[in-house]
Amino acid sequence: MLEKTAPSSGEGADVALVARNLQFSYSPSFSFWPGRVQGFHAIKDISLELKPGETLGLVGESGCGKSTLASLLCGDREPTSGEIALFGKSFKSLMKPSRRGLAKHLQVISQDTLGALDPRRSVGHQMLETLAIHGIGHPSSRLDRAAETFKAVSLPVSALEKFPHQLSGGQRQRVAIARALVVEPKILLCDEPVSALDVSVQAQVLNLLLDLQRARGLSLLFISHDVRVVRHVSHRVAIMEAGEIVETGPTEEVFANPAHPYTAKLLSAVPRGRRGKVRQATAVLETL
Ligand SMILES: Nc1ncnc2c1ncn2[C@@H]1O[C@H](COP(=O)(O)OP(=O)(O)OP(=O)(O)O)[C@@H](O)[C@H]1O
Ligand SMILES: [Mg+2]
Repeated sequence: MLEKTAPSSGEGADVALVARNLQFSYSPSFSFWPGRVQGFHAIKDISLELKPGETLGLVGESGCGKSTLASLLCGDREPTSGEIALFGKSFKSLMKPSRRGLAKHLQVISQDTLGALDPRRSVGHQMLETLAIHGIGHPSSRLDRAAETFKAVSLPVSALEKFPHQLSGGQRQRVAIARALVVEPKILLCDEPVSALDVSVQAQVLNLLLDLQRARGLSLLFISHDVRVVRHVSHRVAIMEAGEIVETGPTEEVFANPAHPYTAKLLSAVPRGRRGKVRQATAVLETL
């Protein structure tokens, strides 16, 4: 089960990401129904740890708060209470004076590849812009760097000239991964990274993420509502229900012996297997 103790100061440099007792409520807004005002306590009390080089799968039903939690962990929203630290450094200190300090540690890959990319500029231009924003490399070497990163995600260098709408969903997701990688982060926060893709492309993108993780020692927080996918990519899993993590542990242990009734319900339809390479796109995702 989750450790609830707060890290003492100076501790935790060997942990990629630590979140302690996070809470978040959406502000009250006017209800559709006249006269009623509603707020929503989306994250109730969440603590988690992500180790260097590990994939932690976060799984739970739609609406349980996964994306809200992701938005807290990447600094898009501020928690109502609780603390976050990356490699022993407090989140707030990394955010100062700008978010660039945070971005070098943590990059986000989301489901919405069209929304994540600027439709008016070539993806190569966007790669160069990202490098310039982060002050990475000499301007004369940035194109080479962008091209190398495209190769690392198995995109042809010629794709740098394309606009987002000229690429397939799978190619766009590779661009999004390349744009995240080019900053050389240590943590990738993947929020449903393959949910919008065809089943045949899902396994290719998952394999790419696993290969990159192994080659670069990345830590992955892999968020999905799809238990089958999470099982195949994760060393450990955290099971989320209604704004809380109800169980966490090594993937196969949790699958073999779910301790919480909600976990048992969520996993009941999933056959047993081991973490590993997602071999054959269509075959694997149909038979997971
Ligand atoms: N801007 C908002 N204002 C108020 N409530 C919100 C807002 N965004 C999300 N919520 C509510 O917070 C809860 C969690 O939403 P969230 O998007 O984090 O869920 P999720 O687990 O990511 O779901 P999915 O699997 O469908 O992506 C939901 O009940 C949702 O209705
Ligand atoms: Mg979501």
